[in-house]
Amino acid sequence: MSIPARFDAFRIHNDDAGYRSGIEQVSLDELAPGEVVIEAAHSSVNFKDALAGTGEGRILRRFPLVGGIDAAGHVVRSSDPAFREGDKVLVTGCGLSETRDGGYSRYVRLESKWTVPLPAGLSLREAMILGTAGFTAALALFRMVENRQLPALGPLAVTGATGGVGSLAVSIFSKAGYEVHAVSGKADQHDYLRRLGASEVLGRETLATVRPMESARFGGGLDNVGGPMLASLLAQTAPYGNVASAGLAASAELEATVMPFIIRGVSLLGVASAGTARDIRDAVWQHLASDWKPDRLDDVCTREVELAGLPEVFRLMLAGGSLGRTLVTF
Ligand SMILES: NC(=O)c1ccc[n+]([C@@H]2O[C@H](COP(=O)([O-])OP(=O)(O)OC[C@H]3O[C@@H](n4cnc5c(N)ncnc54)[C@H](OP(=O)(O)O)[C@@H]3O)[C@@H](O)[C@H]2O)c1
Repeated sequence: MSIPARFDAFRIHNDDAGYRSGIEQVSLDELAPGEVVIEAAHSSVNFKDALAGTGEGRILRRFPLVGGIDAAGHVVRSSDPAFREGDKVLVTGCGLSETRDGGYSRYVRLESKWTVPLPAGLSLREAMILGTAGFTAALALFRMVENRQLPALGPLAVTGATGGVGSLAVSIFSKAGYEVHAVSGKADQHDYLRRLGASEVLGRETLATVRPMESARFGGGLDNVGGPMLASLLAQTAPYGNVASAGLAASAELEATVMPFIIRGVSLLGVASAGTARDIRDAVWQHLASDWKPDRLDDVCTREVELAGLPEVFRLMLAGGSLGRTLVTF
């Protein structure tokens, strides 16, 4: 299949003219090297994309780069025989929009070692509604289950519940058989969170406690916001429950005591989706395409934009106004 000499991409620069991003025409030769070229069908918007696209966070390690940490589409060319023209594939993280050009581009060049064949049970669109956010929520559950998180331990709390990772965590955890208590600052979105599978929706004040240990209200949980809410979640977790830390939407700080660890055996698990090993990556995508696939993925996809719509989504996201996932469509 022929690839046009130049095509649209959302590229990020940081040079003498300052930090800036926007749509420009690029050629395949300008993109980071890789064995597989895809024609992108969809990408998505993650918090990290908003940080990278606006310069509010130090995400890119070299400039210029095409933004977008997620990509899904059809293979148009591959020097690796493992992939053939027409194959449907996806990539999340793995250096996209960090050390190499990302998914906000009509054509994306990928390293074959990180290119995942689209699992049976998912469309390209569904794969990008999930994207890094869904992968991160599922990876958190994968790590918790590995560490013996059983539904009988009690409900799982999800903070930042209306956001991308949060909405998908509520959906995935409930699909996997756990009771989910969503923690959200958006009082007008309780119905949305219940529809996704939350049995209770709690305000952020639930996690405003400051004592080293509180009564054990949760079996564990996934934290997307960091700071005092993470410390409070640890203090309210039942014996041998797991708390997965994935985000810093409120704060990168953590001021806590060791009491939950040494008195209750609580575990704090790190979740770093971008660098996940290939075998775990494949196992998590298999769950996402089958037993953990949310029943209401379309409800989580609250917005669909083209490249030109990205700056507005970034602004909303950084202001804490996210609701579900934004899909990028070409
Ligand atoms: N570790 C990883 O691999 C990984 C992967 C993906 C994302 N992340 C991180 O996870 C976090 C969430 O990402 P996302 O893509 O889901 O972002 P998002 O869609 O913007 O969601 C963030 C949510 O956090 C809550 N929030 C925002 N500001 C807050 C504040 N000041 N205090 C308390 N809660 C606040 C809001 O939920 P409510 O209004 O419902 O409370 C918001 O919807 C980000 O920090 C991101 O960097 C990490």
